[in-house]
Amino acid sequence: MAEPTFKAPKGTRDILPPESGRRRALIDAFAQQAELAGFGEIMSPIFEDLGVFKRLGESTDVVTKEMFDFFDKGDPPQHLALRPELTASVCRAFAEHRPTPPWKVWYEGPQFRYEQPQAGRYRQFAQVGIETLGTDDPQADVDAIALGWHFYASLGLREITLLLNSLGDPTCRPAYMEALRTYLSDNAASLSPQSQVTLERNPLRVLDSKRAEDAAIISAAPLMVDFLTDETREHFETVRAGLDQLGIPYELSPRLVRGLDYYTRTTFEFAADALATAQNAVGGGGRYDGLVEDLGGPATPGIGFALGVDRILLACDAEGVFTTPESAVKVFVVDVTGGSHALGVCTTLRNAGIGADRSYGGRSMKAQMKVADRSGAPFAAIIGEDEVVNGEVTLRDLRGDTGQQRIALADLAEHVARLLS
Ligand code: HAM
Repeated sequence: MAEPTFKAPKGTRDILPPESGRRRALIDAFAQQAELAGFGEIMSPIFEDLGVFKRLGESTDVVTKEMFDFFDKGDPPQHLALRPELTASVCRAFAEHRPTPPWKVWYEGPQFRYEQPQAGRYRQFAQVGIETLGTDDPQADVDAIALGWHFYASLGLREITLLLNSLGDPTCRPAYMEALRTYLSDNAASLSPQSQVTLERNPLRVLDSKRAEDAAIISAAPLMVDFLTDETREHFETVRAGLDQLGIPYELSPRLVRGLDYYTRTTFEFAADALATAQNAVGGGGRYDGLVEDLGGPATPGIGFALGVDRILLACDAEGVFTTPESAVKVFVVDVTGGSHALGVCTTLRNAGIGADRSYGGRSMKAQMKVADRSGAPFAAIIGEDEVVNGEVTLRDLRGDTGQQRIALADLAEHVARLLS
């Protein structure tokens, strides 16, 4: 095949059928479960004022290196960015519309980060997620984590590990930050050059380094959990008790800091053990009790998560679960009289809620049957001259061995519906 003139931009992909159908099914399943738990869908813009995303953390990779930002054509031009995630947009929307809390929303859609593409890491990727704004009840944390946990299970995934941590709040954070800064500064000479720079901006981010030369220093660093105030500790213990109550297993992960700066208290990540790559985080979330206020809204606590659709599907491939859904086409209409009869038959079937497709171009019986087989439809409805004269079709079972039978055209939809049920 000749090299195409244009290709999808680096780090982006075309999702073609039938894979696109599998994604749609995943999103539909998430939507259903979120709605059952009282979340309503929020649809927010794909781009926002850059300032909305700056709140994700001035020292995070997402803000410093990965933003798809641009100026619009206004006078003066506005500095905008494609969304790298949706939590900030949801908080911006909350601050703008002031809905009655607690406000529970779910979302799905593409996110954009200018990353170095690799397996499971893209510049355009899809997330599904939820956010609950306006309550700091630890039960809301448990509810959120449980929704994520059960969603993976509903897809058939079995090899998911829940990693859990508490990142404290503004009352306990300063003492911890001081201890961490002192420890890392004392050991700065042993850190990678990149982490030495990060240390100046935000010591917490050093803990997120995946560089081998930082591992030893990070593994002996002071832990946030040792600095939690009584109130924050109690919050964390209630979250843990709730997970125990629901029988949801978790691993305490005291060095889990996440890639965004807005987190307070409960933080978590879901890792797919079947993915042998560095990109095995299939979802993550936590509390962000200061973000709405940061964006100009009233002081409002929040908790939520986002799950990476692309990586979940990779994990499903690795575990051999949640395979491509069956074709919606149930009857392939093969018309060897020229094609005009297929028009009416397809329409009748579709109007009865039965998926129907056909060939074009008046092709031979053999050629049309080949397409019928490829379509995945369980039945072919064959129309020849004899069928037309008698007002009938020949219905052929393409999968089983029940052979074929003549059926009055008027009974076709009802007959197929019965066979399908
Ligand atoms: P995040 O950890 O940055 O959190 O992203 C959540 C998930 O999105 C990741 O676990 C991963 O599965 C997927 N993901 C992230 N970047 C990429 C990429 N470049 N390619 C493919 N998949 C990717 C957030 O986005 C927060 N907004 C989550 C949250 C919601 N926290 C509170 N509420």
